[in-house]
Amino acid sequence: MHLNIDNTKRAVGMGILRLSSFHIGIVISASILLISELLTRSDVPSLTSLQILCVSIYRVVFHPPARYPRPFVAKITDAYAGYHGWIGDVHLDAHQLHKKYGTFVRYGPNRLLVNSVNGLRDIYSHGKNVQKSTTYLPMVPRKNTWSTLTTIDKQHHRFKRGLLRSQLRNQQLEESEPMMLQYIQKLCTKLSEGSTLQEASEPRDMAQWCEFFTVDVMGSFTFGEELGMLESSENHFVMDKLHKYSGMMGVSLQIPSLAKLKLERILGFLTTWTRPQRLWNAWTSAFAARVLNTEPGCAKGIFPHIVAARDRRGNQLKIEELWAEGSFLLLAGFETSATTLAALFFYLAHNPGAYARLEAEIRSTFSNPSEICTGSNLTSCVYLDACINETMRMSPATPGSPLREVLRGGLVVDGQFVPPGIDVGCCIYALHHHPEYFEDPDTFIPERWMEARDENDTNWEERLAR
Ligand code: HEM
Repeated sequence: MHLNIDNTKRAVGMGILRLSSFHIGIVISASILLISELLTRSDVPSLTSLQILCVSIYRVVFHPPARYPRPFVAKITDAYAGYHGWIGDVHLDAHQLHKKYGTFVRYGPNRLLVNSVNGLRDIYSHGKNVQKSTTYLPMVPRKNTWSTLTTIDKQHHRFKRGLLRSQLRNQQLEESEPMMLQYIQKLCTKLSEGSTLQEASEPRDMAQWCEFFTVDVMGSFTFGEELGMLESSENHFVMDKLHKYSGMMGVSLQIPSLAKLKLERILGFLTTWTRPQRLWNAWTSAFAARVLNTEPGCAKGIFPHIVAARDRRGNQLKIEELWAEGSFLLLAGFETSATTLAALFFYLAHNPGAYARLEAEIRSTFSNPSEICTGSNLTSCVYLDACINETMRMSPATPGSPLREVLRGGLVVDGQFVPPGIDVGCCIYALHHHPEYFEDPDTFIPERWMEARDENDTNWEERLAR
């Protein structure tokens, strides 16, 4: 590998610049955020420097999570998490902090992260005394546009999840298989363009191609729309815009007080930040409207089923919620699947041994690509299954910490009592790279998932992970 000294120096220089602007940025944003957090608190009627000082001292010294280790700025304001949200490394930072401080880390004035399987069970198992935290609010773009993911009220969430579960059945997936196989064929054709048996094609950006593929699949699966990402570049601008937008969303998700103040929306009129979101909303609203205006029984995709779905009492989703659900399904489905696929290709390309073993398994199971479809042959590909599991462990598509607010009465998390009002969560990436659960956690080893599975052993996943 050639090392370009000029570039290296520039990179070092940039690092110093970034470091100093980071500190300045942190101080300024910490002040703004502290003020905005104070403004959104009903128990702080007017703003004085004395109040800022008092709240800071309270957060540093007396607030219930104060006894847990943390970076200093995180004691006072969510700006610390906001900064890492902006640069997109919240999961890596949380992982480093757990390595440094141990199982419990305070990741904001009101936020506690726990890095243990016991913590995971205590927070996310069914019936726990928690609800989704206000960090989900920035994902609600307009009034009443709650999706299943963003619905905080537990009863309403149960209702929506029930409706969704009744529609996302195996039958829907089976019916979608021919469509998915068609897109897989298209992807393979596009990737092999310009190659022959003797010569490989030009290198391709697989992250991008995986995204085009999953957007096409999810567009068809959700709304019955043919988005043509694999065929033409006409709609590719939407992806570019979404990537730009995710930086800003990364900040908002870490600083829910911004969403409460509606600063994001105010700024959106002054800057180009929220344009991608508006564009995405307009796009998905048009798809939803098309389905709603189509004769019942004629529209394709899962969305018409969600429109028609009712619970036992005959309740159904309101119109704004319907759109939010469709928009979320398309986004959640394509981003996660594209990340996982691209990561799988990355690990296979960098692990020739795993690649060869997988190739041998697939070639010995199927004699022709057209034979590949769901069924017993595919299920028998245990190494393929192990590679996918290991990819999702190494690079989880949602690597962060889904936060839950502790409700009245408190919650015991891994032996520690957490009082009501505190947000608790487990960082998925940190847990997946915990050496106590996964030996040699930073190495891609699909074989770790292949130990014979005993159906009666309810702890098999945890046992295999060890
Ligand atoms: C590799 C692929 C995927 C991964 C790793 C993944 C991961 C996740 C995770 C971690 C959550 C919980 C988020 C939270 O509580 O903050 C979630 C929620 C959800 N995902 Fe996925 N997902 C994937 C694909 C999909 C697909 C393809 C769909 C739809 C067809 C989907 C639909 C949903 C829904 C509806 C929720 C909300 C569930 C609820 O709040 O009750 N996901 N997903």
